[in-house]
Amino acid sequence: MTTPEDLEMRSHPKSLINLLRGWPNPSLLPVNLLQTATKKVLADRTIADPGLLYGPDTGDPRLRECVAKWLTKFYKPAQPISHERITITGGASQNLGCVLQVYSDPGYTRNVWMIAPAYMLAFRIFQDSGFHEKLRAVPEDEEGVDIQYLQRQMRKSEERAKSEGNTAPKFKPSRPYGKIYRHIIYAVPAFSNPSSRTMSLQRREQLVRIARQFDALIITDDVYDFLQWPAGTTTDQSSLESATLPRIVDIDRTLEGGAEREGADGFGNVASNGSFSKIAGPGLRTGWVEGTEKFAYGVSQTGTTASGGAPSQLTSTYVAELLESGELQKYIFETLQPAYAERFRTMLKAIEEHLLPLGVSLPQSDRQVVGGYFMWLSLPPPLQSKAVAQRAKAEENLIVAQGELFEVPGDSESASFPHDLRLCFAWESLENIREGIARLARVVSQMQRKGAGGETMAPATENGHK
Ligand SMILES: Cc1ncc(COP(=O)(O)O)c(C=O)c1O
Repeated sequence: MTTPEDLEMRSHPKSLINLLRGWPNPSLLPVNLLQTATKKVLADRTIADPGLLYGPDTGDPRLRECVAKWLTKFYKPAQPISHERITITGGASQNLGCVLQVYSDPGYTRNVWMIAPAYMLAFRIFQDSGFHEKLRAVPEDEEGVDIQYLQRQMRKSEERAKSEGNTAPKFKPSRPYGKIYRHIIYAVPAFSNPSSRTMSLQRREQLVRIARQFDALIITDDVYDFLQWPAGTTTDQSSLESATLPRIVDIDRTLEGGAEREGADGFGNVASNGSFSKIAGPGLRTGWVEGTEKFAYGVSQTGTTASGGAPSQLTSTYVAELLESGELQKYIFETLQPAYAERFRTMLKAIEEHLLPLGVSLPQSDRQVVGGYFMWLSLPPPLQSKAVAQRAKAEENLIVAQGELFEVPGDSESASFPHDLRLCFAWESLENIREGIARLARVVSQMQRKGAGGETMAPATENGHK
């Protein structure tokens, strides 16, 4: 379908550069590896037949095993990860919906707490589960989450629930394989979409303690963890074989007696959503969720899985082949990390050259390890990112994402981003990344010269070079 927007784009004298799209560039898709894996799987009826039939609820057993071993090697937790902690999913988005089906009730569950700026496509998943009036923003701080703010607000939320007599699930039946949490906390702790921030170890531990205190389930989208490299534009090193911080699910497993400590219900307080979208291809629609064994089994018991079997059953067999042979791990280390590092460094250099002198700033610029798909820029006030994005599109045929897109619907007053922009370095070519930043700088500097209403604005001050 051709939209009026497409026509407008096509008629623009400049070629389109899209720094909003959070997709991998097609050159980074492991097509050849998948070709070998699919051929092998389909030639072996002992793998192909179960792959083409309904799968077990918890997913392809071979993939569960492979994921457990691979995660053990990458995250190096205190004890190895067993396959019982893993359920295969249709990716992080699909699984967020499944988790909410089994573990939340839009009446009893008081609020969904989203660390903001937040991944905007998660909003509708929560809304679909009945939480449209219960979404709350929790501001990020330099360490990843304003923990005191969250604690204060959760306390208030509990007082409200008490005064309303909200003491039992209203819409969901009681099930032996599930439970209903009183709160949901949603976070992207490493190389976040959109802010690219990484949450500190201290904040991760504090979050687990708060979740236990308030009977909250923390759902983390850990989808960028494998795409990491040393920070800086001068180092030659572009790959890192293991994670530098434990996931929040790893912390819940061991902190102060762990998720399965005596007296606890065994479901734990954290679900880690993993995905092959960013490290193999989003079209695979395959991922995994990790939690306690009890939790992982519960997610697999949604009605849709009970009827249709595990999602992505056939693609799971291909991905298992890639992991068992070690090809995917090698591909991430030797191809993806260096390629994304180069893209990141190209964008950073262009930002340093063109945008920092105009007063634009980058958060967490002192990190040792960086990663993911995105960079988050703060424009010098009074520049509004919405106006900049509009001008960039109209004048430069450049698409960027303005901060408002990542504000939590219904709670933008708690965390608003009128001066921020998200840029993606995964989709466009290196040349377009450089050109895109130069175009953005042209827009910013023209707007600074003219001022929003056409008046002359003060030039960038010395703090513009931070
Ligand atoms: C934070 C976050 N969660 C989930 C997704 C989607 O993951 P999947 O393709 O596994 O559904 C993305 C993709 O952009 C993302 O950035």
